[in-house]
Amino acid sequence: MTELTFRNQDRMPALGLGTWKSDPGEVGEAVREAIRIGYRHIDCAAIYGNEAEVGQALRDAIGAGEVRRDHLWITSKLWNNAHLPEHVEPALQRTLDDLQLDCLDLYLMHWPIALKPDVAFPEDGSAFLSWDEAPLTATWEALERCVQKGLARHIGVSNFSRTNLVKLENASIRPEMNQIELHPLLQQNDLVADCRATGIHVTAYSPLGSRDRPPRLVREGDPVLLETPRIIEIARKHEATPAQVLIAWAIQRGTAVIPKSVNPRRLRENFDAARLELDRSDLDAIAGLDKHFRFVDGEVWTSNDSPYSRADLWDE
Ligand code: A2P
Repeated sequence: MTELTFRNQDRMPALGLGTWKSDPGEVGEAVREAIRIGYRHIDCAAIYGNEAEVGQALRDAIGAGEVRRDHLWITSKLWNNAHLPEHVEPALQRTLDDLQLDCLDLYLMHWPIALKPDVAFPEDGSAFLSWDEAPLTATWEALERCVQKGLARHIGVSNFSRTNLVKLENASIRPEMNQIELHPLLQQNDLVADCRATGIHVTAYSPLGSRDRPPRLVREGDPVLLETPRIIEIARKHEATPAQVLIAWAIQRGTAVIPKSVNPRRLRENFDAARLELDRSDLDAIAGLDKHFRFVDGEVWTSNDSPYSRADLWDE
């Protein structure tokens, strides 16, 4: 299994299990099954609303001797309503309690957007805190203190553009990860290259096109990534599946990738994608598919009198 090496030589398996949209009632069994198959990297977040069940599954798997804690890589994310410095450590502590862990391997700032403490999703502009009220650097310094206290081994960000990453350039612990939407329809070559050049690893989310995304993110005419003819052709050529081509592409690009599934057959299929090797002609064909198309466009953060604009979120 390909691994990404962090600054202190810790290693994260490039292929992880995504848990966004995995409902309580099914996510626990998915995590157990994934661990049985061989997954050792699980991607979580407080806002997914399922960390307690993930935590129970981790505890059961460790208790049953199926895996050791130190062989697992567990990532979670700070929600937007806990950006004020005094709220960061308590939010991380809640995640640790839910996951039944003493320490996370990686903790990410989920979005570069701050909400008031009692708001999960905004209904209007009054739900937000501006960057003046909740500066990204202040949230980041609170995350650094969590590392110093031993609550997270590594810290990073998610959904950060190059412009926003630059704001953390002088931090005492520079971000080690940027988790962003990446797939052949949104390749973000410049951002991936910039992250690489500045020592920031990249994780690809929604690598399969998140067909099960919530209705608010679905628009008429949206492409169906897994049905892209070119991807299907490449899959046929290798006697693989389209999902495997998408996962192998992400790994060959040097990114981590976190396909979500709650289905045992697809969990296995996705795990086996790590063995698929795409050739030059496959990679060239996929390079031609970029449409700068986002399934997760962040509009919820930039509409309805939000203090944040699209340009505050994305460079591309
Ligand atoms: P399921 O959980 O029933 O397997 P993403 O990782 O881009 O968010 O995509 C997740 C979506 O893709 C879910 O609907 C998931 O359904 C589905 N999915 C996961 N693995 C595969 C696969 N190998 N083939 C087809 N669909 C898949």
